[in-house]
Amino acid sequence: MSRFGKALASSVGKKIVMGLSGLMLLGFLVEHLHGNLKLIEDPSGAAFDDYVGFLKSFGPLLVLAEIGLGLLFSAHVYLAFRLTLENIQARKQRYVVRNNRGASTVGSVSMFYTGAIILGYLLKHLIDFRLDPRFFDAPHAAVQAKLSQPGHAAVYLLAAIVLGIHLSHGFRSAFQSLGLSHPRWNPLLERLGKFVAFLFAVGFAAFPMYYLFIRER
Ligand code: HEM
Repeated sequence: MSRFGKALASSVGKKIVMGLSGLMLLGFLVEHLHGNLKLIEDPSGAAFDDYVGFLKSFGPLLVLAEIGLGLLFSAHVYLAFRLTLENIQARKQRYVVRNNRGASTVGSVSMFYTGAIILGYLLKHLIDFRLDPRFFDAPHAAVQAKLSQPGHAAVYLLAAIVLGIHLSHGFRSAFQSLGLSHPRWNPLLERLGKFVAFLFAVGFAAFPMYYLFIRER
């Protein structure tokens, strides 16, 4: 294995890729939220349809970006499994030797569960919209048809809350994984992480709430 390969496979390497992939996925969510806000900004749906049309106009470049995003997501999920297993093993080991030193496991088990729920939700989300060939004919109408049904809206609402929980620990943890933690800045990062998590949860929860309770059919 090359030196680069060995570095990536090490515990520290895995944490760095985890931190970077988490923050990059968060970056994608910023743009996703920004695009989706057009659903509420322009109730006629024209602004959202134009936005989707604009993305579609990139053709093969859009497909390439989606493949990149898929790889990023796969790396995050793969490492989530590896790190969670390693954490469980380290915990068993510590129990046997009654030693409290070793890899920190705070929050990582709950991170795994919230992550698994996000993964399940993401598959539903892709089937609902991206993989439905009719979606691109009338994007706004497709979103409205789906989110005004209480069952589907409840899933989207729950996913937004779970994403918030994942990020409330993940944001701060990513900085720690990247070696960017400092006792002076940690309390600020902690609070910023909670704030960012809250913004994303409320932001993504806004769409099912809007179609369920505000927007008239
Ligand atoms: C849009 C989706 C997602 C975003 C924005 C996101 C974001 C993050 C961030 C920022 C971190 C902190 C990284 C670190 O600790 O270095 C993290 C950690 C984690 N994520 Fe995600 N994540 C997402 C989806 C998922 C999925 C689908 C899983 C699947 C199981 C998952 C499982 C985990 C686990 C287990 C950790 C903690 C790893 C550890 O440090 O032990 N995440 N995530």
